[in-house]
Amino acid sequence: MGVDRSVEFTGIRFENPFLLSSAPPTESESNIMRAYESGWGGVVTKTIGLHPVVNVYGAKAKFMRTTPEDANVTMKKRAGAALHSSWNWELISDKTLEWWSPRIRRIKESFPNKVLIASIMAGSGNDKELKHWQELAETAQGEGADGLELNFSCPHMDRRDMGSNIGKDQGLCSVVTEAVKEVAKVPVWCKLTPATADIVVEAAACFRGGADAIVSSNTFPSIPLIDPETLEFEINVDGLVSSGGLGGPAILPLSLAKMAQLTKAFPDKSFSGIGGISDFNQALSYFLLGCGTAQVCTAAMLDQAVGPNVIRKLLAGLDRFLEEHAGEFKMVEDFRGIRRDRIVLQSEIRRPDSADYHSGYEAVEGYAAPQPETAVRA
Ligand SMILES: Cc1cc2nc3c(=O)[nH]c(=O)nc-3n(C[C@H](O)[C@H](O)[C@H](O)COP(=O)(O)O)c2cc1C
Repeated sequence: MGVDRSVEFTGIRFENPFLLSSAPPTESESNIMRAYESGWGGVVTKTIGLHPVVNVYGAKAKFMRTTPEDANVTMKKRAGAALHSSWNWELISDKTLEWWSPRIRRIKESFPNKVLIASIMAGSGNDKELKHWQELAETAQGEGADGLELNFSCPHMDRRDMGSNIGKDQGLCSVVTEAVKEVAKVPVWCKLTPATADIVVEAAACFRGGADAIVSSNTFPSIPLIDPETLEFEINVDGLVSSGGLGGPAILPLSLAKMAQLTKAFPDKSFSGIGGISDFNQALSYFLLGCGTAQVCTAAMLDQAVGPNVIRKLLAGLDRFLEEHAGEFKMVEDFRGIRRDRIVLQSEIRRPDSADYHSGYEAVEGYAAPQPETAVRA
């Protein structure tokens, strides 16, 4: 067929730009091997920590659906319902670093041309904790991982110095990235939480620490709905629930907005897009905004655990797109970021009479009138 699906991202060559993100699809050796056989260009392992974690009783992830008839968003299964989102309160891998180490090696030996990124997480409150990050990083890269993804985004951590609580603190973002970069011989990606006022601030901090790429988004903080009949949360343990993470179609426009902020602020940096991708058209939006790779979780979870049909559709869509635009684009890199500059301030959008709109400010005449740039910053 002759299309070139390959991308180079943070110095790593991928046979195609599609990865399974860090989540249940990548929680085991057998899943990851099946994912590679299905055609994924790479995977990010389920996040690995130093200490074992114990998940809550019962389901750790559920899917919410809606129908045109009832417009309800609910976990209750019903005919004709379309996927709205995934909701989860799953912690990081319940397997330890010792469990993962030989598996990372075996996976890489079996699939040397596929990309394996190790997602890692530790605390960050003191030097001992920072050494944990370094231990995780050194072990994973020593076993053959092609890159590291630092989980600054898990929304379920109670500890103030872990998961998304790191991603909400620019100081911790820099310090942890720097600690990992001190020992890293492979590229370091930082996966940020979308739950901050201005994700550009935390991304800048990661870049100051030496990050090679930013990954966004992890799931958005959310709670399940309350069943109107039982008055219980649709997912709960003993009636209790904690804030969890929303993924899937519902977060696609939200994640794109985060990504647009990032790629506009740092046009020369590398970004991996996640959130609501199930086929090529959605991944395309991320590429056009400037992402070099795209990651998938929810759609793959619903497709034989590792998404064989999802990756088939993603690859077919990419091939078709490259064929249709053969005169213009030879590979993803040729169209990456070409729509980034279309996102502008409201005041820059054409309107029936632009003279009447002053970015929400009162019209001022003469020398006191702010220039458009000043008006925006004010
Ligand atoms: C059940 C579940 C577990 C997850 N576990 C992790 C994890 O361990 N580490 C991580 O970085 N992201 C984790 N994620 C987040 C996903 O990797 C992804 O960022 C998010 O689901 C958005 O992508 P999607 O819309 O394709 O689902 C998890 C998501 C789900 C649904």
